[in-house]
Amino acid sequence: MATSTGKCANDRCSCVNCTCEDCRCEGSSDCGCYLNLRGRVAVVTGAGAGLGRSYALELASRGAQVVVNDIGAALDGVGHDDTPAQSVVKEIIERGGEAVADTTSVASPEGGEAIIQHAMDEYGGVDILVNNAGNMRLSSFAKLDVRSIGEVLDVHLGGAFYVTHPAYQVMMKQNRGRIVFTTSGLGIFGIYGADVYAAAKGGIDGLMSALRLECERWGIKVNAVAPMARTRMAGDDLYAELPNEAVGPEHVAPVVTYLSSDECEVNGEIWSVGAGSVARVFTARAPGYYKHPTNEGPLTAIDVASHVREIGDLTGASEPENWLAEWKIVADRYRAS
Ligand SMILES: NC(=O)c1ccc[n+]([C@@H]2O[C@H](COP(=O)([O-])OP(=O)(O)OC[C@H]3O[C@@H](n4cnc5c(N)ncnc54)[C@H](O)[C@@H]3O)[C@@H](O)[C@H]2O)c1
Repeated sequence: MATSTGKCANDRCSCVNCTCEDCRCEGSSDCGCYLNLRGRVAVVTGAGAGLGRSYALELASRGAQVVVNDIGAALDGVGHDDTPAQSVVKEIIERGGEAVADTTSVASPEGGEAIIQHAMDEYGGVDILVNNAGNMRLSSFAKLDVRSIGEVLDVHLGGAFYVTHPAYQVMMKQNRGRIVFTTSGLGIFGIYGADVYAAAKGGIDGLMSALRLECERWGIKVNAVAPMARTRMAGDDLYAELPNEAVGPEHVAPVVTYLSSDECEVNGEIWSVGAGSVARVFTARAPGYYKHPTNEGPLTAIDVASHVREIGDLTGASEPENWLAEWKIVADRYRAS
């Protein structure tokens, strides 16, 4: 990104392949300033292990100052251990990066505020937030203890609100920010025995699809990953067909890095990521069955029962840009006939 003076206009350019005095990188992908996170502060929740650890290592390796948040809980979310967050920080520092440990739970508004305040106190800002912390409790719906659903919802969905809200205030003031949420194919496509987890992840998708419409005016982009990686949470069986080297969290981290970078061009998308595959997942609307309520009379239960196939036929399905666009499809159809 050379300016007329020849000096690189990108203040984060580390110029691996060129010199600052005569930078001709034009933001090209083989220059060190491309996807460089120098000068950026990242908060990664649940970063003491698994996927979060990989994200923290990769963001730090690209120059970000990282707040490694993790309570060091067991898989069901119970317990507290400072060691996982501290050891990831040690790993980052040993590799020449900058990081600080934070062992506050994401599962309360006060916790979320404290995590973001920690980033402010330590590094003076928050540019990147990766909402990754999570727990897991499996139970069929029939055997579910409904009194305990808050323990899963509060971490995944509550945590996404509690940490994002204070981070968003900082990002709005900076006019810059990248937020990555963590959803799951288990929520999007479903799986037996994970009703609460699936609902929590589905809630995150809803949060993101609304927030994406508000955030761009502040220079903020929000996206989500639905990862697939062999971690403590996934266990040994879930991806048993593939060898360890194919399903490690390191195959998800580059996607989180891209979504965290200034170069990220997408907003409001869910990307399914794992084992070398990166693919957008989206919600679409089928053309459906239509009966004009004025010209053809009111819709009846018999109409519905006799058009079930047409209602579910995805041929010609489309992805409305937002709910108003979906309503326009409905209203236009009425007005057209
Ligand atoms: N591994 C997969 O295939 C997969 C698939 C879909 C979604 N996910 C999601 O990815 C994220 C990371 O999962 P993982 O597979 O690395 O699991 P993991 O169990 O290895 O890591 C989760 C981390 O979150 C931390 N944590 C739990 N509760 C917390 C809280 N209240 N505050 C702060 N930290 C907390 C844990 O201590 C743990 O280190 C989760 O949100 C999970 O739901 C994972």
